[in-house]
Amino acid sequence: MIEVERLTKSYGPLTAIRDVSFSVAPGEIVGFLGPNGAGKSTTMRILACFMPASSGTVRIAGYDVFRESLKVRKRIGYLPENVPLYVDLRVAPYLDFVAEVKGVGRAERRRRVAEAMERCLITDVQHRLIGRLSKGYRQRVGLAQAIIGDPEVLILDEPTLGLDPKQITEIRSLIKSLAGRHTVILSTHILPEVSMVCSGVVIINQGSIVAQGPIDTLVDQFFPTARLEVEIAGPPAAVHDGMRAIPGVVAVEGLGVTDGVGRFVVESARGRDVRGEIFALAAQQRWSLLELKRVGTTLEEVFIRIVAGEQAADEARP
Ligand SMILES: Nc1ncnc2c1ncn2[C@@H]1O[C@H](COP(=O)(O)OP(=O)(O)O)[C@@H](O)[C@H]1O
Ligand SMILES: [Mg+2]
Repeated sequence: MIEVERLTKSYGPLTAIRDVSFSVAPGEIVGFLGPNGAGKSTTMRILACFMPASSGTVRIAGYDVFRESLKVRKRIGYLPENVPLYVDLRVAPYLDFVAEVKGVGRAERRRRVAEAMERCLITDVQHRLIGRLSKGYRQRVGLAQAIIGDPEVLILDEPTLGLDPKQITEIRSLIKSLAGRHTVILSTHILPEVSMVCSGVVIINQGSIVAQGPIDTLVDQFFPTARLEVEIAGPPAAVHDGMRAIPGVVAVEGLGVTDGVGRFVVESARGRDVRGEIFALAAQQRWSLLELKRVGTTLEEVFIRIVAGEQAADEARP
């Protein structure tokens, strides 16, 4: 549905994005992830036909954003980073205006506006001035203008930026509810958001794509081992060595001993469950096994590994 190929954009001497390529399948919600200044908004502005690229191509629903921008514009909804809403307009007339600009006929507009307001839970504020609304409500109005006309593709740039935790939760579930009906690309620098809302991610750092794919695949790729947290009351060195000797265990890290209870992180090859062996070992040695639990790898750790790894590589360069 979205095909980005070798996209480069320079602002004067600064190359904001370089050779960016990725694709988003129909119906997918993809998180576009990267630290501030990575090039997320630049990429999204190009996707939304807001400005041209320096080189490279973007196709949305098969249409080139540069050469066939009118066809693209009809098929996308865009929530820019700083939502430029008309603060002096009331909610419903504003949305009606947006629908008109998008070419929705008069007869159809009323229904479309009502539906967008309903989906974004803003029907109750439809007669209020946009400028008087809270940031959370304004963001929902921004989403409503993006979904008006039922576009195939939604491009949402930091949709939860500047919201309080309650509003963030509301906007997230709203975005989730948009899935299926639309293909969504949403940028964020908040990692848990991606895990909660998205099926796949595209990670950008310093203008270049550094990883992309389904979250699980990325986790496996960057963390080829599974981890267990273990607490055993027993002689720490013997416990350590005993677990290290279990086939499939690749590392054992001691986290400290409190009141004779040692805490360890045991890493094993993915797909190799060593919990049974650890239990058997403890039983055989008459150590008390007090805790044995799997530790999930979060997208956050993947992100840190990728972005920190890049920085370390940069610093190592002469
Ligand atoms: N209009 C602009 N003119 C000049 N430089 C810009 C402009 N917009 C963004 N940049 C620069 O391009 C880089 C990428 O910015 P941006 O795409 O906004 O990143 P992100 O959205 O990931 O924070 C940054 O270094 C930023 O300072
Ligand atoms: Mg941005």
